[in-house]
Amino acid sequence: MISTSILNVTSYTGLELLRLLSQHPTFNVTSVTARSAAGKTMTEVFPQVHGSAFASLSITEEPEQTELAFVCLPHTAAAESAVKLLQRGTKVVDLSADFRLRDAGQYSTWYRHTHPAPALLETAIYGLCERYRSRIEGASLIANPGCYATTAILALIPALASGIIGSDIIIDAKSGASGAGRTPTQGTHYTEINEDVSAYSVTGHRHLPEITQELEAAAREAGNSLANGLRITFIPHMMPMTRGILATCYADVKRDTPHPISTTAEARALYEEFYANEPFIRIVDSPPHTKWTYGSNLCLIYPMVDTRTGRLLVIACLDNLVKGAAGQALQNANLLFGLPETTGLPLMALYP
Ligand SMILES: NC(=O)c1ccc[n+]([C@@H]2O[C@H](COP(=O)([O-])OP(=O)(O)OC[C@H]3O[C@@H](n4cnc5c(N)ncnc54)[C@H](OP(=O)(O)O)[C@@H]3O)[C@@H](O)[C@H]2O)c1
Repeated sequence: MISTSILNVTSYTGLELLRLLSQHPTFNVTSVTARSAAGKTMTEVFPQVHGSAFASLSITEEPEQTELAFVCLPHTAAAESAVKLLQRGTKVVDLSADFRLRDAGQYSTWYRHTHPAPALLETAIYGLCERYRSRIEGASLIANPGCYATTAILALIPALASGIIGSDIIIDAKSGASGAGRTPTQGTHYTEINEDVSAYSVTGHRHLPEITQELEAAAREAGNSLANGLRITFIPHMMPMTRGILATCYADVKRDTPHPISTTAEARALYEEFYANEPFIRIVDSPPHTKWTYGSNLCLIYPMVDTRTGRLLVIACLDNLVKGAAGQALQNANLLFGLPETTGLPLMALYP
């Protein structure tokens, strides 16, 4: 068994990790932390864990020594904790944005803070398992990707890596309210979001630099030269639902490329081949619903060519708390400790 701590267990992602770890054969949760709930037991704060192995676990302010830690804190607080954990030899999967951007300058621009631990940016591995599997295996600090970023990157990497689309990309994405976390705000209040849909962060959402960083890297690695970089418009929307992200991505299909595509069947074949060995990615044959991913670690992807406009459309969805956060974090931890990547991760959604 591998001793495991969850920092900020009172967060949505922290509690989702506890749910997933309750089915895990190797990671044994021995320490959970929280600020306001410190001094209480798990059942006192979350009656739903009554009778489980975690019921009598005491919530502390600081984590006990463990081999693995999941850090579910807000950015900045997460980096400060990660530094201390790494110093005592704990492997860290950080769910915050603190180690996702390779450039500390980009971090201070988008997060309006000087990076608390810039030296760690060199060693942190961006935890998109489908892309960085071999680097994750030998790492000590994983930057778990953002929820919107995971959806958009998984949707677009096959097209960019194979050079079939141009550099103008539009990502139109929708999220349920749990994406904004557990702390109530007017923007996530039931009466504000029920029966309502709205766009937000239209002048630039914090996941945009992360999406750009990873898509440009994938394109360059594949020798797809992007003289002026990508031009990405990313607009998120708040939906009146609890979980789920759905991203519809648009880009022009390139004609002047060695292997152009012009039909949905060709796009589909390309995506199926690209993700042939990925346990959590499914290329589906009709536009996916977020409900099909609820509670599972799946990302569903539907690529198609709109022959009237010559555009590639890729519709992708996932559960923001699972493949977009806690599930992906567990997938990373499995790799960190040499376990089968799928261990303890649900492959079927809760439905309806
Ligand atoms: N929600 C998602 O879908 C999602 C997806 C991917 C990544 N993430 C990232 O994962 C991390 C956790 O997100 P979340 O949505 O699960 O969190 P959350 O639900 O918003 O967490 C809320 C809890 O955070 C605690 N908290 C707030 N500020 C704190 C601080 N400075 N120090 C210590 N505790 C603090 C509060 O506890 P007290 O009661 O003690 O104040 C509150 O209970 C964030 O970095 C987030 O960006 C979230």
